[in-house]
Amino acid sequence: MNKQWVSLVLVLGFTSAAPAAEAVGDPVAGQAKIAVCGACHGPDGNSVAPVFPKLAGQGQRYLLKQLHEIRDGKRVILEMTGMLSNLSEQDLADMTAFFSAQKGTVGVIDAELAAKGEALFRGGKIDQGVPSCTGCHAPDGTGNAAAGFPRLSGQHADYVKKQLEAFREGQRTNDEDTRVMRTIASRLGSQDIDALSAYIQSLR
Ligand code: HEC
Ligand code: HEC
Repeated sequence: MNKQWVSLVLVLGFTSAAPAAEAVGDPVAGQAKIAVCGACHGPDGNSVAPVFPKLAGQGQRYLLKQLHEIRDGKRVILEMTGMLSNLSEQDLADMTAFFSAQKGTVGVIDAELAAKGEALFRGGKIDQGVPSCTGCHAPDGTGNAAAGFPRLSGQHADYVKKQLEAFREGQRTNDEDTRVMRTIASRLGSQDIDALSAYIQSLR
């Protein structure tokens, strides 16, 4: 990782050192509240259809941030329109505690494509300003729950690809003022994105 990214990691880490007062979630109460979500995301957060992201094992802080932003229209997800508007902070905390406590599954892969993806995931493309993904998303792809860096391992390749393209095209903008994912994705070609997505789906 070059210096610029190292300091970015530090800045993000620093910002995240002071979490807002958040409701503490109860996973047992959460399970009773996620029936409607399970239709798309799977009853244990391991969705079957690859366009619906897996939520199982995802860090709670990241999940809560996404739910707030989906509810407030900062991240537009048409499939979820209106679903969060009548939920309390406690509901959101319970639901995310439930998903976070579930065990994520891992998908099958095209081994050759995944090998290309692994090289990018671990080494980046330093000459083109793409850092390795491991600095924030961890070498095993489990992310950094406390900092709110999402878990990627086992996520559906189709979903990952869609997110990287959305960051690249500026359609997904909730990576905040650091624009970290928009910047990285803008330096990835379509083949890079395919390879990374395949690798991530297989990563355990
Ligand atoms: C009709 C299908 C559907 C239902 C029902 C649904 N979602 Fe989603 N959800 C989606 C889709 C599609 C996306 C991803 C959209 C995209 O490609 O960016 C998503 C994304 C998310 C994300 C972001 C995941 C990430 O990795 O960034 C969270 C969190 C989430 N949903 C939680 C919920 C919760 C909680 C409920 C129940 C209240 C719910 N969803 C109900 C379809 C659904
Ligand atoms: C400096 C830290 C950092 C680095 C390096 C980084 N990411 Fe991220 N990434 C983030 C953060 C923070 C988010 C969450 C943004 C948000 O809150 O919505 C994210 C989100 C994502 C998401 C969306 C996850 C989801 O569930 O929707 C994907 C996919 C992703 N990153 C892939 C990558 C890949 C591939 C690389 C390497 C080429 C990479 N990231 C490098 C910080 C980083």
